Amino acid sequence: MEWTTYLFLVIISVVRGEFTSNFMVRNSSYDNKAFLASKLISTSHYRSVFDCAADCAKNHECKSTTFNADTHICQLLSAHKEAISNTTTKKTTGWVYFEKLITTYDVMPTTSTPTAVVTVSPSSFNCSQWHYFNGHWYFMDSTPRTFNDSRTFCASKSPSAYVIEVNSAAENGWLVNLTSTQCHAAKEYWLNAYNINNTRLFTWLESNTTAVYNNWENGEPSHLAETCIVSDTMYEGEWADITCTYLRPVVCEKNS
Ligand SMILES: *[C@@H]1O[C@H](CO)[C@@H](O)[C@H](O)[C@H]1NC(C)=O
Ligand SMILES: *[C@@H]1O[C@H](CO)[C@@H](O)[C@H](O)[C@H]1NC(C)=O
Ligand SMILES: *[C@@H]1O[C@H](CO)[C@@H](O)[C@H](O)[C@H]1NC(C)=O
Ligand SMILES: *[C@@H]1O[C@H](CO)[C@@H](O)[C@H](O)[C@H]1NC(C)=O
Ligand SMILES: *[C@@H]1O[C@H](CO)[C@@H](O)[C@H](O)[C@H]1NC(C)=O
Ligand SMILES: *[C@@H]1O[C@H](CO)[C@@H](O)[C@H](O)[C@H]1NC(C)=O
Ligand SMILES: *[C@@H]1O[C@H](CO)[C@@H](O)[C@H](O)[C@H]1NC(C)=O
Repeated sequence: MEWTTYLFLVIISVVRGEFTSNFMVRNSSYDNKAFLASKLISTSHYRSVFDCAADCAKNHECKSTTFNADTHICQLLSAHKEAISNTTTKKTTGWVYFEKLITTYDVMPTTSTPTAVVTVSPSSFNCSQWHYFNGHWYFMDSTPRTFNDSRTFCASKSPSAYVIEVNSAAENGWLVNLTSTQCHAAKEYWLNAYNINNTRLFTWLESNTTAVYNNWENGEPSHLAETCIVSDTMYEGEWADITCTYLRPVVCEKNS
């Protein structure tokens, strides 16, 4: 994917005969930084960082945006860099930060107006079908279900499948690619295991093997009562423990 960074984007509107420019200024110091959830206005998917910036420019509450060029997720924030939290520890990649600077001009600003367009080639990827990766087949179903119901759903496939077991960084990358990049459905997805003792050690239910690869988010697992595990494909597939009766979508996996 071609990804070019420009210093700023300019959205111009006429207000009371003056030109008001909402400059969306890139500040790479705040790329890939987690922010306070309380500052999140909305999460959308856009083809380009330009669409994301334009959405912020139109929204009076919006003060800054983070856009992920890999997943096309656009998040509008209600604060400038003070929205960035030092206490959250999510490690994220691919995010670029822009903040809105509002300037009023008597005359048309002479600044050039570059567009930063990320082109996405039209995809024939069908998100309702099985897809092959590295020896296994995968099927995404976005219906939110409890963990048990998700297991039943995958087992009902013919031939029988199971909830995804992520055994390597490559398979984690594929899960993120499938759900987020290809299908624009970045969310928390069930993983096929119980974490019964709140440690980072567990056994995959289908393969009956001890998990070696892991991608726990910092500070996770966090609660003994939360015995099920999800992969958050909005955050590079990081794992967290949650309550098994929560409703989440699933990716089913089968061997052939
Ligand atoms: C980006 O933020 C840093 C730290 O707050 C600041 O020193 C720098 O001037 C900012 N850069 C731009 C282009 O605003
Ligand atoms: C956040 O961390 C940066 C760099 O470590 C530090 O300069 C800044 O003062 C911290 N901000 C807060 C609010 O703690
Ligand atoms: C995607 O696959 C599903 C299931 O095979 C099929 O029903 C649907 O028509 C396909 N969609 C497209 C756009 O080909
Ligand atoms: C999930 O299924 C297992 C085994 O089938 C059962 O023991 C357990 O009680 C179920 N849990 C919930 C929350 O339904
Ligand atoms: C994502 O999946 C598609 C379809 O399988 C594949 O063509 C593409 O190379 C993958 N991209 C990455 C970054 O893995
Ligand atoms: C936690 O449970 C897993 C099996 O699910 C086991 O392999 C591991 O040894 C247990 N850890 C501790 C500290 O008991
Ligand atoms: C899982 O593996 C253990 C030993 O590795 C074995 O004792 C146990 O019977 C296996 N369970 C199933 C359901 O295959």
